[in-house]
Amino acid sequence: MTKKVAVLPGDGVGKEVTKGAIDVLNAIGQRFNHQFEFSYGLIGGAAIDTEGVPLPESTVAVCKEADAVLLGAVGGPKWDAVPTQLRPERGLLAIRKELDLYANLRPVTYYDSLADSSPLKKEYIQDVDFIIVRELTGGLYFGKPSERRTNGSEEVVVDTLYYKREEIERIIRQAFETAKVRRQKVTSVDKANVLESSRLWREIAEEVSKDYPEIELEHMLVDSAAMQLIRNPKHFDVVVTENMFGDILSDEASMLAGSLGMLPSASLTLNGPSLYEPVHGSAPDIAGQNKANPIAAILSAAMMLRHSFGLEEEAKAVEQAVEHVLNAGHRTADLANGSHYLSTEKMVEAIVDTIADDS
Ligand code: NAI
Ligand code: MG
Repeated sequence: MTKKVAVLPGDGVGKEVTKGAIDVLNAIGQRFNHQFEFSYGLIGGAAIDTEGVPLPESTVAVCKEADAVLLGAVGGPKWDAVPTQLRPERGLLAIRKELDLYANLRPVTYYDSLADSSPLKKEYIQDVDFIIVRELTGGLYFGKPSERRTNGSEEVVVDTLYYKREEIERIIRQAFETAKVRRQKVTSVDKANVLESSRLWREIAEEVSKDYPEIELEHMLVDSAAMQLIRNPKHFDVVVTENMFGDILSDEASMLAGSLGMLPSASLTLNGPSLYEPVHGSAPDIAGQNKANPIAAILSAAMMLRHSFGLEEEAKAVEQAVEHVLNAGHRTADLANGSHYLSTEKMVEAIVDTIADDS
């Protein structure tokens, strides 16, 4: 089959790791006889520098013509001083809104050979395997008003947590669909003891669960979930939650996997192209040094194969190749604990060779 992939490398290590993901997709194409066609767009700081805005219209057009989008990362100290509305991160928020990428899936997978890279003891993290389903286009990050005001002589600020019923319903449904092909358990995370929005969230979770009698639903308060993620991460299968809660919990969960450089994500829509990107940012401290771990981007490409193209066998081939090179002792700097490590390009090469060897 032939598929069009829009690539938005963005800033910093984004350029280096998306290149690795493209090499891997091409290796999969060769082995399984598919054709991937790549087109490119600017986003973030790279777009600000040349077009003056973090998400040019031309980039949106490139994405909408594609079957899926692969994104690197945006941002960096160079753009720290630009006005809020023009910051690189705005490009990311805008593309999520433009493509209606409402469901952010972030798997957290344990790799036996990386047990020493996590700050947590092996006995706690062994066999951890869950996925966070984060609502991505609503909630506190998009609600209006969001502003500073003066109220008489007082300076006040307001952010708004706003959801429509249907927005909550579709993300919870996505979580149940995800649980169906996993271990049949959904943990819905909220703050229903304080927030009205969370009380509706809980109600809707109960309603949706009636359509999935085989799947277990539990509710957990977000503060308790933050604790349980460290205390007993094996407890979780699918975790579904509001935008900001999901942002925080998924960064916390990233420590279970050893390195941010290992964590992929998918941002799904019901109509049009979905987007795939590593969880990490542009890593300005190591950018341009051929040192970044490309695995998060490569595993994001595997999620693309699975969720956008329905190529489960191909997705598994990528995941197995990653596991294979890790088992063989290959490490990038972030995983190496100071011992010998591979460059970004050499790690990509090892994974590409493994995919080719298995054909
Ligand atoms: P970061 O994720 O870029 O880096 C955090 C730490 O993890 C750094 O020490 C970095 O070297 C390391 N790291 C990240 N990715 C790595 C990889 N693939 N391999 C090896 N090590 C890796 O987060 P930070 O430093 O908070 O933000 C840097 C910039 O990235 C900021 O401008 C921020 O706004 C932006 N950012 C963008 C995101 C996105 O595009 N989705 C997400 C998070 C941050
Ligand atoms: Mg974050």
